[in-house]
Amino acid sequence: MRTLKVALLGCGVVGTEVARIMTTHAADLAARIGAPVELAGVAVRRANRPRPGIPEHLITTDAAELVKRGDIDVVIEVIGGIEPARTLILSAFDSGASVVSANKALLAADGAALHGAAAKAGVDLYYEAAVAAAIPLVRPLRESLAGDKVNRVLGIVNGTTNFILDKMDSTGAGYSEALEEATALGYAEADPTADVEGFDAAAKAAILAGIAFHTRVTAADVFREGITEVTAADIASAKAMNCVVKLLAICERGVSADGTESVTARVHPAMIPLAHPLANVRGAYNAVFVEADAAGQLMFYGPGAGGAPTASAVLGDLVAVCRNKLGGATGPGESAYAQLTVNPMDDVVTRYHVSLDVADKAGVLAQVATVFAEHGVSIDTVRQQGREGDASLVVVTHRATDAALSATVSELRTLDNVRGVASIMRVEGE
Ligand code: HSE
Repeated sequence: MRTLKVALLGCGVVGTEVARIMTTHAADLAARIGAPVELAGVAVRRANRPRPGIPEHLITTDAAELVKRGDIDVVIEVIGGIEPARTLILSAFDSGASVVSANKALLAADGAALHGAAAKAGVDLYYEAAVAAAIPLVRPLRESLAGDKVNRVLGIVNGTTNFILDKMDSTGAGYSEALEEATALGYAEADPTADVEGFDAAAKAAILAGIAFHTRVTAADVFREGITEVTAADIASAKAMNCVVKLLAICERGVSADGTESVTARVHPAMIPLAHPLANVRGAYNAVFVEADAAGQLMFYGPGAGGAPTASAVLGDLVAVCRNKLGGATGPGESAYAQLTVNPMDDVVTRYHVSLDVADKAGVLAQVATVFAEHGVSIDTVRQQGREGDASLVVVTHRATDAALSATVSELRTLDNVRGVASIMRVEGE
């Protein structure tokens, strides 16, 4: 029985766990795959760090050399970022190796080209770990639901921001205070931009939308708004409506103006009712709702980050691609046959919570309501609270397009009686 050789690119938090599980579960992995798997090389940036459990002779700083050695069956890429990961993966394909990657940024930016290169080389590209770590999402969408029609994917796919919003909700803290705590506890990175500005979630949304709708979707197609502008007042407003604020990734089918089927993908903070299952996803946990024609509503829940949970997904992919190798086959590649148009945010239809500071005098409410009406945005509820000559006015709308809401808000800003637009938040999950 031949031994399958694995090269590991990156030996940080995830890589270390991958190596550990490969060693401790070696016998089980061999039994499940049908052949032993051997760690044949580990590429690192700095060779002189202690790496317990990894034989020193396997360590190299020359990743390029490792991937084109010729005897490597599978390359596991857990270094992240666009380069050198992209070049290394392409080189691995050229050398006949299948690739297991956890690299959401790369797959969301350049997934089509990578899939094309894998197909051309007759090898696999698997990336369950790229979206919400241990939570099975890529494989269920790509394989289990391959016979169904997925209509919507709605989820919390970033643990850092969920931790921050949950802290704000449970303690009344402001954004900065909650971020500080997330940093101190190791949930937020020293530079939290990718998480708090929604880049991480947008990359995951692009990957999920692409697979769910059999359409090429890149991170650039995903509307993105982070959580940095969410205030304690927004959280309190949500509470008053029996809602909670979550950073959501929403990918859904729609219909373009010309009647053709299209899709949208977006990431932004939104209010969701407390009764919605996503409202109860606390701390750094992730959860994703998938709605499909025949399957109905499915929910996937679990730890969406961290060394061991990400390694779990990597190992699952490793077993799959090794089985394919032994069988002389490849698993499912890119499926983008539907080629649906990815519509811009303007075309998204949802409800809105608009918080205005207005002058508290006769006719102002009517004036504000007229602006909504003129843009075809129907009002569901209005809540007003007077404050010494001024008032806080909270308008919750029925469903309207983002374009109509934006035009409404632009006009409201021009009114003398509107002192300011305190916040606009979408309302989802109803
Ligand atoms: N930083 C991400 C999160 C995990 O907070 O969920 C990696 O995608």
